[in-house]
Amino acid sequence: ELSPIDMAKFVAARRAVDFVEDGMKLGLGTGSTAAWMVRCLAERIRAEGLRVTGVPTSTRTAELARDLGVPVASLEQAGWLDLTIDGADEFDAELNLIKGGGAALLQEKIVASASDRMVVIADAAKEVARLGAFPLPVEVIPFGWQTTQALIEEMLAGMDVDARAVTLRKSGDAPLLTDEKNHILDLHLKRIGNPRQLAMMLNQIPGVVENGLFIDICDAVVVGHADGRVTVRD
Ligand code: A5P
Repeated sequence: ELSPIDMAKFVAARRAVDFVEDGMKLGLGTGSTAAWMVRCLAERIRAEGLRVTGVPTSTRTAELARDLGVPVASLEQAGWLDLTIDGADEFDAELNLIKGGGAALLQEKIVASASDRMVVIADAAKEVARLGAFPLPVEVIPFGWQTTQALIEEMLAGMDVDARAVTLRKSGDAPLLTDEKNHILDLHLKRIGNPRQLAMMLNQIPGVVENGLFIDICDAVVVGHADGRVTVRD
């Protein structure tokens, strides 16, 4: 009854949850794939009496975890984490990622960076030779966001990318507000020649809080396929 894409997400999530051990402190990602992970984790908690502490990366994930009986704590309460399992919008052969399609990139990057290990779960369609077809989300402070956008556009003019359009993400008619009450600018670049450099340059711009490029953060990608197969990249 699962659609092919949901089957791929589900089998990836289920395999990644096999990495969870009793007593672990876990970062819980955000998005439709991460939601499968929370369900699979809840199932292991029910079936095996597994004891874990989950640190959600969004209000959405916190709500889902609580509803399903997964114990949650804030990152402040939990401290350093053993493992974070999260989705991604794109990943490349070096396991660099674009994240933030679900607008949760700031908490996701903080939580993944505060973990011994980050495992990404994704369907096979998210693997790319070069990052950038998916618009790169950048979280910016609302104060002066238009001039922050202008500074980003000026910086992009000197970068190795194939397109340079920047759009403000909306929620209905209003600018979207993240969990931290910031806005998201989506950078439509088509191809990012040097993700590491772009990630560093973006975070130099005043008003930019964080960007959706995850460089050297992900340790493994568990790839789910529609036929139920799972492959692991690490
Ligand atoms: C949330 O901000 C994103 O980083 C998600 O991890 C990403 O959008 C993947 O979502 P899906 O699993 O729904 O594709």
